[in-house]
Amino acid sequence: MNSSISVLLILLLGLHLISAASAHPGEADDVLKIHTLSETSPFQDCLSFSYYHQKCPDAEAIINRKLKEWFQKDYTLAASLIRLHFHDCSVRGCDGSVLLDHEGSERRAEVSKTLRGFEVIDDIKAEIEKKCPRTMSCADILTAAARDATVFVGGPYWAVEYGRKDGLVSLAKEAESVPIGHEEITSMIEFFQSKGLNVVDLAILSGAHTIGRASCGSIQQRIFNYSGTAGKADPSIDPKYLNFLKRKCRWASELVDLDATTPKTFDAVYYTNLPKKMGLLSSDAKLYSDPRTAPLVNALAYQPSLFLYQFGVSMAKLGNVQVLTGPHEGEIRTKCNFVNSHK
Ligand code: HEM
Ligand SMILES: *[C@@H]1O[C@H](CO)[C@@H](O)[C@H](O)[C@H]1NC(C)=O
Repeated sequence: MNSSISVLLILLLGLHLISAASAHPGEADDVLKIHTLSETSPFQDCLSFSYYHQKCPDAEAIINRKLKEWFQKDYTLAASLIRLHFHDCSVRGCDGSVLLDHEGSERRAEVSKTLRGFEVIDDIKAEIEKKCPRTMSCADILTAAARDATVFVGGPYWAVEYGRKDGLVSLAKEAESVPIGHEEITSMIEFFQSKGLNVVDLAILSGAHTIGRASCGSIQQRIFNYSGTAGKADPSIDPKYLNFLKRKCRWASELVDLDATTPKTFDAVYYTNLPKKMGLLSSDAKLYSDPRTAPLVNALAYQPSLFLYQFGVSMAKLGNVQVLTGPHEGEIRTKCNFVNSHK
């Protein structure tokens, strides 16, 4: 890339950082905070930081305590909860619809088959119901869990806004729109745009692949049957890495780290892997081969602190996608797997 363009980009991202930082939740200057947040919010909504301050003051503490118990037993759940929140927000907005477990629901769709962490959310919900019955939505619990999971694996903290209601509808067919790793950049940009998220959010949120794992089924075509030619591999994979993947991925059900270099830490190494031809998913690799996103990858690889900060900003945006907040929208589920029975 032209170096003057890259310097410009870093400067631009830096400016964005400064303006966003001055609006960081928890800052004293409330006027400035509200001003900039409404700019970064994709929709006009009624979420608020203080939503549960009176109704359920211990909510965040309960969620955090429960999560720590789960993560100490199985730290891989942290990545899975971050992904679960993304899939929830990707279909009908962040409304807990991915949690509903009935025939034909999103959760039963093919693209959802490796989603994990449902039992964690159920466990938290049961505890919250004891302390604050019929008060906190499953969508809000999942949003808070994704934030706490990020912090747990070494990522940034951001203040979460609350007040989402749980949706009543969940359709497997609609889950098919969620990207699964073979997509072209254009369709990913369009998908994000349809949620009010831009190309910077795409580049930043893809950085979640700095932790967690994929099942080998997600990349077998890429390493064994590239563009439908048996035995062929995507030439854009580093030869050593390809060797490793071929040995590792003989079975579709095997799991492989999304970040081959520092799989257990939330850092910007995901971005430095990409120029080294070590992106696991084809969609990861394409972020570096496309001129619309390559400059962002370079800037983020070059400035890890920018990634860490901006990840919180983009996650807060993700958590605001198409939320249900109106008085007659959605409900507060008592169990996250089922809608309440309506007489
Ligand atoms: C940009 C489009 C995206 C595509 C194409 C994509 C695709 C994928 C795929 C194919 C997997 C592996 C699934 C499997 O084989 O089991 C995965 C895992 C994961 N994704 Fe994404 N993803 C995208 C965006 C995101 C976003 C926005 C987030 C969160 C902010 C995210 C977080 C994760 C995490 C943490 C994992 C690991 C899950 C685990 O270890 O259980 N992804 N993603
Ligand atoms: C290889 O790809 C082609 C075209 O996508 C497909 O028809 C074929 O079943 C694939 N072969 C294997 C072994 O997956």
